[in-house]
Amino acid sequence: MKHRLLSATLLSLSLLGGLSATYAAQPAHTPIYLDANRPIEERVEDALSRMTLEEKVAMCHAQSKFSSAGVPRLGIPEIWMTDGPHGIRMEKLWDEWADAQWSNDSCTAFPALTCLAATWNPTMANTYGQAIGEEARYRNKAVLLGPGVNIYRLPLNGRNFEYMGEDPFLASKMVVPYIHGVQRNGVATCVKHFALNNQEIDREFVNVIVDDRALHEIYLPAFKAAVQEGGTWAIMGAYNRYKDQFCCHNQYLLNDILKGDWAFDGVVISDWGGTHNTQQAAYNGLDIEMGTWTDGLAWSWSNAYDKYFLAQPFLIQLKKGEIDEKVVDEKVRRILRLTFRTTMNPHRPYGSFATEEHALTARRIAQEGIVLLKNEGNLLPLDPKQPRKILVVGENAKQMMTSGGGSSELKVKHEVLPWEGIQNYFGDQAQISYEEGYSLNPAVNRHALRQQAAEAAAQADVVLFVGGLNKKDNQDCEASDRRSYELPYEQNELIAALRQANPNLVVILISGNAVAMPWVDQVPTIVQAWYGGSEAGNALASILAGEVNPSGKLPFTFPVRLEDNAAIALEAYPGNGKDVEYKEGIFVGYRWHDRQKIEPLFCFGHGLSYTTFEYGPARLNRRQMNPRDSITLSVSVRNSGSRSGAEVVQLYLCDKKSSLPRPLKELKGFRKVVLEPGEEQTVTFTIDAQALSYYDDRQQTWVAEPGQFEAWVGASSEDIRSRASFELTDE
Ligand code: BGC
Repeated sequence: MKHRLLSATLLSLSLLGGLSATYAAQPAHTPIYLDANRPIEERVEDALSRMTLEEKVAMCHAQSKFSSAGVPRLGIPEIWMTDGPHGIRMEKLWDEWADAQWSNDSCTAFPALTCLAATWNPTMANTYGQAIGEEARYRNKAVLLGPGVNIYRLPLNGRNFEYMGEDPFLASKMVVPYIHGVQRNGVATCVKHFALNNQEIDREFVNVIVDDRALHEIYLPAFKAAVQEGGTWAIMGAYNRYKDQFCCHNQYLLNDILKGDWAFDGVVISDWGGTHNTQQAAYNGLDIEMGTWTDGLAWSWSNAYDKYFLAQPFLIQLKKGEIDEKVVDEKVRRILRLTFRTTMNPHRPYGSFATEEHALTARRIAQEGIVLLKNEGNLLPLDPKQPRKILVVGENAKQMMTSGGGSSELKVKHEVLPWEGIQNYFGDQAQISYEEGYSLNPAVNRHALRQQAAEAAAQADVVLFVGGLNKKDNQDCEASDRRSYELPYEQNELIAALRQANPNLVVILISGNAVAMPWVDQVPTIVQAWYGGSEAGNALASILAGEVNPSGKLPFTFPVRLEDNAAIALEAYPGNGKDVEYKEGIFVGYRWHDRQKIEPLFCFGHGLSYTTFEYGPARLNRRQMNPRDSITLSVSVRNSGSRSGAEVVQLYLCDKKSSLPRPLKELKGFRKVVLEPGEEQTVTFTIDAQALSYYDDRQQTWVAEPGQFEAWVGASSEDIRSRASFELTDE
C-alpha cells in the first residue's frame, strides 16, 4: 500500500512538473560518446564513465557463438564476428554450431591465403582485403576473424592453407595491405593466431619451446607488422601455450610484447575455447573471451555464457575487490575503441556482397597466385583454338573446395570447379572427357579406376590430371595434421600410370601444402593451383589456355622428402604430448635448406612463366652505409620472350660474418613487374639497417652488426641472377 501511494505521488508530481520536467531530464546536447566528431579517446572515456560494472563485464565475453554484448541502455551495439579469412562464413545458430539456414548468406569465396601469398603482390592483398571487407560490412560484421599469419614450419600442418607461407618478410608485406583493405570498410581484422600455432596436433594445449631469436626473427614479424604498419584493430590469441602459459592469456606475448613493446591499442580476442582461467584472463592481456565450453574441446550446458571465465566469475571477483576495477576498465576501453572504429563509425561505407566484381577479384587473385612449377617442352599453354582430345582425370576436378577445412568453410554463391573451367575455355574446339582415376573411398577398387583412366589417357592428345589434397580431416583441414607427405588415395600410382600411357601429361595440384612428387622427373608439366575460391576453375583454365601468363611464386619450400624439413629432421614435431621444442631455431624453410645444403624439390620463390626474363647487373648507389643510413640497389629486368608477363624480382641479403649464426640469405625485398615483350624496367630497392639486423637474444634487441654484406637478386631463392657487396660501417 505504501508503495502504491509513493508511485501515485511521483506520478502526480511529474504531471504537475509538466513539460519543463521532461526537458530537464534530457541532456542539453549529444553525449560525447555519441558524437562522431569527437576524438575516439574522449568518446571511450565518456562511455566508460556511464557504464555499470555489470555492463562492463558483459562486454568481455561472448553472448552467442559469434557475438559479444553491447550496452543496450546506452545504444552501444553488440559486436558481431565472422570467419574468415577467405570469405564470410554462413550464419550459425545463436548457441549451436549448426548453420542457421539463412537464404541470403552465400558469399564470394576468395582464394586461400597461401594463394594470395603466392601472388607476391601487395596491391593484390589490398584488393583482396577491400573486397572481403565489403562482404563483411554488408553482412554487418564488425570483426573479420583473419587473416592468419602463422609461419609455415612444416608441410604437415593442416592449417597451412590459411596462412601466408614460411617467410616472415613476405608474410609481413602481404598482411599489411590486406588489413588496410578490410579496415577501410569499418570492419576490424582479427589477425590470428597469436602466436606459435604452427601445428594442429595437440593445438589446444601444446607448450611451444622456442628461442628468442626464432620468436622475434621468424614467428613474430608478421604480427608486428600487422599491428604497427597495418594498424589491426584486433588480434586473436592462439590455443597453444608459450612459456607454459596459454597464449590467450599470456603475460609475455600479450602484455609485454603486444600491448607493451608494440603499443597495440586494439582488442585481444580469445580463440574459441582458448580461455582457461579467470585471474589469468583478467591480468594477462585478454579482452574478449569467446567460445568457452562450446568449442568441441569441452562440451557442456547450452547458453553457458554467464559461466565464462570473464563472465560471472570475473564479476564476482571484481565485486569482492579481488580484482581491481581498473582491470575491466582497461578491457572495456579497448572494446569501446573497436566499436567506435566499426559499428559506431557513421562514415563507414555500406559494403556489398557476392557481386560480380568480387567474383572477378577472386578470379584475378587466383590467376596471379597459380604457380607453374615445371613446363618441360612447353606443353603449356594449350591453344584453345586447336581441336584436340583432352582427358581430365581426378576427383579434385569436380570437388568443391570451399566447404570443409574447419572454420574457414564457406557457403558460396558459386564455385567454378576445374572441370567447368576447362570446359568454359576449351569446350568450343576440344573433345573433353573425364575419368575419376582415384577415389577417396577405400572400398572402391582403385586399381581398376587407374587402369580405366590410363586406357582413356592413351587415346587423348593431352591429359590434365587434377589431384592433390582436399579439405577433409588429415588433409588441408583445421584440427588435424596430415599423416603423410605423400599424395593420398594412391595418386602417385595413378600419375605414373597416366604418364606411361601418355607423355603429354599436366599434373595440377590443388592444395595448401607441399607434397612429395616421386614422379617429378617423369612428368613434363606441373601446376600448383592452391584453393582458388569461387572462380578456381576459370582461373586455372585461363592459365592452361595462356589467356593469363602465370606469375605466382612459391611462398614456401617444397622439400624432396619430408625428412628434408628441419622440424622433421630434428624430431622436433609434434612434440611429446606436452611440449614441442622448435629445435631448428631460426632455420625454417629455405634457411634450413641453405644451411644443410639440401636441395629442395621446388624452392621458395620459384615459379615459371610462359615468357622469359633477363636480369641486368645489380647496381648499388654506394658501397658503404652506416646504421642511420640506407643505400639503394637497382636492377633492370627485361621480358626477353614473346608474351607479356609478370616477374617477381627478389632481393636476398647475406651477412658475410656475424657474431651470431645467421641464415645464408634472407628475403628483404621483392617487386612484381609487368612487362610487355621486349620491355625493360629498372627495379630499385632501399636497404636500411633494419634489413641487415638480427635479433640479439643476449641484449634482447635488434642489432645491425658492422661488416660486409652481399645483396643477391634473383627470380627465386635458388635462381640468383646477380650479386653486389657492400659494407655496413660503425656510426
Ligand atoms: C579457430 C579460429 C576461428 C574460430 C571461430 C577456432 O576453432 O581456430 O581460427 O576463427 O574457431 O570459428
